[in-house]
Parts: sequence; structure tokens; C-alpha cells
Amino acid sequence: MWDERYAASELVWSAGPNMFVEELARDLEPGRMIDLGAGEARNAIWFAEQGWDATAVDFSAVGIDKANQIADRCEVDLTTVVADLTTYVPEPEGFDLVLLAYIHLPTEQRTTVQDRAIAAVAPGGHFLLVGHDATNLEHGHGGPQSAEVLTSPDELVASLGDDFEVIRAAVADRHVETAEGPRVAKDTVVLARRLG
Ligand SMILES: C[S@@+](CC[C@H](N)C(=O)[O-])C[C@H]1O[C@@H](n2cnc3c(N)ncnc32)[C@H](O)[C@@H]1O
Repeated sequence: MWDERYAASELVWSAGPNMFVEELARDLEPGRMIDLGAGEARNAIWFAEQGWDATAVDFSAVGIDKANQIADRCEVDLTTVVADLTTYVPEPEGFDLVLLAYIHLPTEQRTTVQDRAIAAVAPGGHFLLVGHDATNLEHGHGGPQSAEVLTSPDELVASLGDDFEVIRAAVADRHVETAEGPRVAKDTVVLARRLG
């Protein structure tokens, strides 16, 4: 389904990074980062442009192929991996920033993927998640229409455990232009730093 979607249009997501990713990560010291479920890698490519050693992982070979082409066009180095997040294990404590952006999986898979993503954060590094919030179903525009796959700040903070300092955990408004006029989407936004 994702391969077909990525093959069908020039660019499925925005050309630049997600607004919350840019806002929360722009002042962080560059290091190693991994974007899990990167798609066309709009976020990972932006990190690479900011001087990060960026890796983009997605199970859509078409999405990753586009990511490589865009990275070439932008003249940045990007490491890409075609892999299924439900079995892929990012290097534990291997990254200064781990990003999950709009990855919506059923509960069991989501827990597995989130736990591995959290475990991949190095001491002093950051975990960043942006996704369609559970409240978006009733109060926001777009996104998946199944409550099971949506995220919430509380769920995320509970998964982080004691060795993380939560910097931001909120439901945030994202303004979107649609054919019917401006709309607001409700996003879960969580940034946390592993202590040590
Ligand atoms: C809504 S898109 C978000 C893409 C990107 N994170 C962004 O914000 O632009 C969801 C992405 O997750 C990927 N994805 C979904 N399930 C996956 C899985 N089990 N393993 C790897 N990638 C997955 C899809 O291929 C798609 O690229």
C-alpha cells in the first residue's frame, strides 16, 4: 500500500520537515540520528542538512528510493535502510536522537516499535515522537480513523520510564490547508532526553 502511494505522486508528504520536528530539534547539538518509518525522509534529510549523521528506515522500497534521490538532489549524505519496524532493532543506545513521526500501528506492534526506539537513545540523547493524537478522531482533521493506532502524550510518557527527562509532552494544533479551507489537526508531540 505504501509503495503504491509513494509511486503515485511526486511527493506524498511536505518537502521540508514536519513543523514540530523543526521547532523541537533545531537547537539540538548534531550527532547520530535515526528516523524510523521515514517515508520519503523529509525529516531525516532536514537533519542531515543541519549536520546530523542521519539514517532513514522504512519498509517501503519506493519511499526509500525517493529519499535517496531527494538526498542526492539536496547534496546531503543519508544512510537508508529498507526494513520492517516490527522486526528491525535499531542499535541500543546507538543514537543521539531517535524520531518516530506519524507511525500508526496496532497496539502490540506500536509498543514493540516504541520500546525499541526508546532503547536506541544514547545517554544524553533525545527521543522525539510526533503523531496523530487520539483526540484528533473527534476534534481534528485527517489522520487514521481507528482509535487503536493513534497516540497520546500520556501513553508515551509512561513508556519512557525513569531515566528520561520529559521536555515536552502535549497535544498540539497543526494548521492544515484543505480544499474545503483551513483545518486544525491534533498531534501528539513528545520530546524527552535520556539522563546521563
Ligand atoms: C504517515 S507516513 C510518515 C512518513 C514520515 N515519518 C514522515 O513524517 O514524513 C508512515 C510511514 O511509515 C512507514 N511504515 C508503516 N509501517 C511500517 C513498518 N512496519 N515498518 C517500516 N515502515 C513502516 C510507511 O511506509 C510510511 O512511510
